[in-house]
Amino acid sequence: MYDADLNFIFRNPTKIIFGKGSASEVLQEVEALKGKKVLLITDKFLEKSEMVEKVKKALSSKFAGMFSDIEPDTGTHIVNKGADYAKSIGADCIVTVGGGSSIDTAKGIAIVLALGGKIEDHSGINFLNGPITPHIVIPTTAGTGSEVTYAAVIKDHSKHRKLLYADNYIIPNVGILDPLMTLSMPANVTAGTGMDAMSHCIEAMHSQQATPITDGLALQGIRLIVEFLPQAVDNGKDIKARGQMQIAANLAGVAFGNAQVGVVHALAHSVGGRFGVPHGVANSILLPYCIEYNLDAVADKYKLAAQAMGVDIKGLSDEAAAHKAAEAIWTLTKRIKMPQKLREVGVKEDGLKQVAEDAISDGSIVYNAKPIFDPEETLKILKQAF
Ligand SMILES: [Fe+2]
Repeated sequence: MYDADLNFIFRNPTKIIFGKGSASEVLQEVEALKGKKVLLITDKFLEKSEMVEKVKKALSSKFAGMFSDIEPDTGTHIVNKGADYAKSIGADCIVTVGGGSSIDTAKGIAIVLALGGKIEDHSGINFLNGPITPHIVIPTTAGTGSEVTYAAVIKDHSKHRKLLYADNYIIPNVGILDPLMTLSMPANVTAGTGMDAMSHCIEAMHSQQATPITDGLALQGIRLIVEFLPQAVDNGKDIKARGQMQIAANLAGVAFGNAQVGVVHALAHSVGGRFGVPHGVANSILLPYCIEYNLDAVADKYKLAAQAMGVDIKGLSDEAAAHKAAEAIWTLTKRIKMPQKLREVGVKEDGLKQVAEDAISDGSIVYNAKPIFDPEETLKILKQAF
């Protein structure tokens, strides 16, 4: 698994606050970050919700304004508009209440506030020279782990491309995980975002950059997801299950934020790009097929994952236990009523070749357990998942 040459850096700078009702502690965190004028970022669905009202009230006189023009895949035009608004109110601190798209928008706004110009002027890796506008995240979904990750993906709709922003200075300062903030998430979103978190755990484990620390985080994430995701899907008001899923998504976020992801995400990004399949749904369908694909390279890791999913691995070879890990994923996704095949979610067979090619140039594939350079390889996986 790991040899004497093992060396790594592990990073987790985000302060995590967990607990029922913890969103009301936001003001203390703003003050600790020396924020005076807070820009609150959320989406149109949440804008008038009790959840956002609660946060607004807690911010009291530090609340300077709200930006809610968020779309599902955030774009450069949205970030630039938000940054203009942030400047107009003199914002020196950002609080985001929302899911992945709101959080990525906020990360983009913080970049523009720090560097000026337009967001499309700055895409890249390790492009920041120092801290940017302090950012507190209160997630309303449990899956992306964006409250602890160093990246944002922002679409340039005019040029039909997705821009990647990756830098440790993008990592939010504080993540407030309040289970009450996720109670209104519909069952299908709960299932999809939960499977995104599961994919983060498995991908962190089979990444070439996996470490014993990220494995430990991922394994605990897997245990929590297998136990609590079905409960959260069955009963959205189950506060304990909601809280445990937030913790699982956070563990997964710290794990893949350090270890990276792999072929599952490369394919999911490409399927999403061509056919609009939601990220969690694409990951959920592709994950077990990718486990089978990588199996001979990292069977020992999948054996641990299978055990974490409750499989009795006694007496099984690494390979046999690894197959059981894929089976356990299928059992889980059927239990939570996720689609099983790409053909069920609008993917067209004659588009698979293009998706296979897109995936080869996706940055995530670089870290996959097995190096993949030939689109025939990704096509093989896609055909099985179709
Ligand atoms: Fe993901």
